[in-house]
Amino acid sequence: MLFKAIIRPTMFRTSANDPEISHHWLMDQMARISHNQALLKIIEATNAYKSPALERDVFGVHFPNPVGLAGGFDKNGIALPALAALGFGFIEAGTVTRHAQPGNPRPRIFRLLNDQAMINRMGFPNDGADTIQAHLARQPQPKIPIGWSIGKSKVTPPEEAIEDYLYSLRKLYAYADFFTVNVSSPNTPGLRKLQDKEPLDQLMHAIVQETRQIAEQTGRGRAKAVLVKIAPDLSEEQISDVVAVCLERNVSGIIATNTTLSRTGLKQQSTETGGLSGRPLHTRSLEVIRYLYKELDGKLPIIGVGGIFGPDDARRTLDAGASLIQLYTGFIYEGPGIIKKINRQLSHA
Ligand SMILES: Cc1cc2nc3c(=O)[nH]c(=O)nc-3n(C[C@H](O)[C@H](O)[C@H](O)COP(=O)(O)O)c2cc1C
Repeated sequence: MLFKAIIRPTMFRTSANDPEISHHWLMDQMARISHNQALLKIIEATNAYKSPALERDVFGVHFPNPVGLAGGFDKNGIALPALAALGFGFIEAGTVTRHAQPGNPRPRIFRLLNDQAMINRMGFPNDGADTIQAHLARQPQPKIPIGWSIGKSKVTPPEEAIEDYLYSLRKLYAYADFFTVNVSSPNTPGLRKLQDKEPLDQLMHAIVQETRQIAEQTGRGRAKAVLVKIAPDLSEEQISDVVAVCLERNVSGIIATNTTLSRTGLKQQSTETGGLSGRPLHTRSLEVIRYLYKELDGKLPIIGVGGIFGPDDARRTLDAGASLIQLYTGFIYEGPGIIKKINRQLSHA
């Protein structure tokens, strides 16, 4: 109520020309709160919905509930404890790149209010793996699973992509419960080519090998899970190729989907370039999840993401074959109450 009546209109109005203004303001507050244990407890007590019925064990990780925050919201991992206190079952931080980079010129996020959607062309702005690692070493860690999304730096040529991903993986290894290999952002030139069978095979082989080597060297248990995040714009044939690579290379799961380049079904046309997220993505995201589920035949779990705005969308995504779900745009439009709403309903299902 409070969110939709006051907070959202205020935030949307004050950052009408550049949604990032309110995002950065919010992240600064959340980063501050992340160091305040008393406040974190209050936020958790009022927001988090707990029930044994919501707990899940997926790819060797225990999740208190299946509702996660999608990649790209907390790119530098500065506010993870505060975001966790809102009741998420897990958070995907990043996408992080080896080199610090500013991303594309602003504005680079656009709200399509009539469609409950967003277009973004962020281009992975982030502080870079070294700085993020140093920051994490000083920050309290949240109690829920954290996945780190890793991507390719813009300055890195395609033939050096693997080493670029491995660098971030090594830096963040100690802070991750799982990794997501982001090969599906439309905003880094050439990145989506890494979804093609041959380059994806080489990349996933190298990354999974690296986790095994680190686990052996440190003697700290099993290698951490590695997932791959795919675009909704892949054909069935391309998705089948991704599945084959994931099974061959012992990838732990697939996240579907990232934003789309498609603009079909929009009420409000936009000439802005970038990836579309939110309600218009939901149907396509479900199609991809259903197809993946059929192809995977239960061999690997799926994290479903795309246009989830409430309990019904969440239920549909799980019914399509996802073991866990993630939100981004729905969290912006519906506010933090959406997490409890979904979890409450799922726990009674
Ligand atoms: C502003 C913005 C930034 C994003 N940044 C990333 C990112 O850095 N890495 C990533 O894997 N996905 C990123 N995404 C994609 C989301 O994680 C998600 O896959 C997509 O938005 C679809 O979910 P939604 O409809 O719930 O937003 C971003 C999305 C938005 C709207």
